[in-house]
Amino acid sequence: MGEWQIRSGAIVERPRTVDEYPLLSAVYDRHDSLIERHVDGGRMLEVAFGTHPHPDADVAVEAYPENAREFGGAHVATADARELPFEDDAFDVVVGRRFLHHVPAEDRGHVVEEAARVLAPDGRLVVLEGTPGLYRRLTKWVGFRLGLLGEDNDAYGHLTRLELLRLLAEHGFDVVETRPLGSPLLPLAILRSPRTAGLVGLYERTQWVRWWTLAVGRTR
Ligand SMILES: C[S@@+](CC[C@H](N)C(=O)[O-])C[C@H]1O[C@@H](n2cnc3c(N)ncnc32)[C@H](O)[C@@H]1O
Repeated sequence: MGEWQIRSGAIVERPRTVDEYPLLSAVYDRHDSLIERHVDGGRMLEVAFGTHPHPDADVAVEAYPENAREFGGAHVATADARELPFEDDAFDVVVGRRFLHHVPAEDRGHVVEEAARVLAPDGRLVVLEGTPGLYRRLTKWVGFRLGLLGEDNDAYGHLTRLELLRLLAEHGFDVVETRPLGSPLLPLAILRSPRTAGLVGLYERTQWVRWWTLAVGRTR
């Protein structure tokens, strides 16, 4: 498991290398293609890219300096999503995948306001965020009991679909799309066996669990 620490209240980390988990990797690729539909040739900024920037990102920032250092080059940098080092109207799309739960609840509005500031008129904010629920709680509990998961650093909690929509609506966006994502097969994604890659078709056909929510906002 990755290392993590708290910086200015945010939980920053070096997340696990997704490539080592074939099913998780396939699921994340599917998420990336859903996000791709909103890029449409414009300039894309990704915030909190972890260890794998979105393939369409023109610029990607991360609060954990080691992550940005590993990739190097002009298109990645260390920066905090709550205070972006970019001019107003600099991007057409801002993407944040699976990271808002690492920001204290009282700071999440700053993240969304910063996205609104750096987005051009009619820009899109695409947020993919974990959704709390019984299935997530149960499988995590089992994972920790069996020693399959490392230290729990999800101290600030995920956002319900409504909390996510309200966050976007209260900080400068009209919500234009929301979509639940997740299958009961997700716990198998912590396995490294190459065989799990073959489960992706079944995973797709069993989207019955609200594990994540994809929400897209358009600047007003
Ligand atoms: C669960 S990881 C997700 C990483 C990646 N987006 C993904 O989906 O695999 C959360 C990431 O958010 C980063 N992070 C947390 N707070 C941040 C902030 N305020 N600004 C930028 N990055 C932040 C962490 O360092 C970590 O890499």
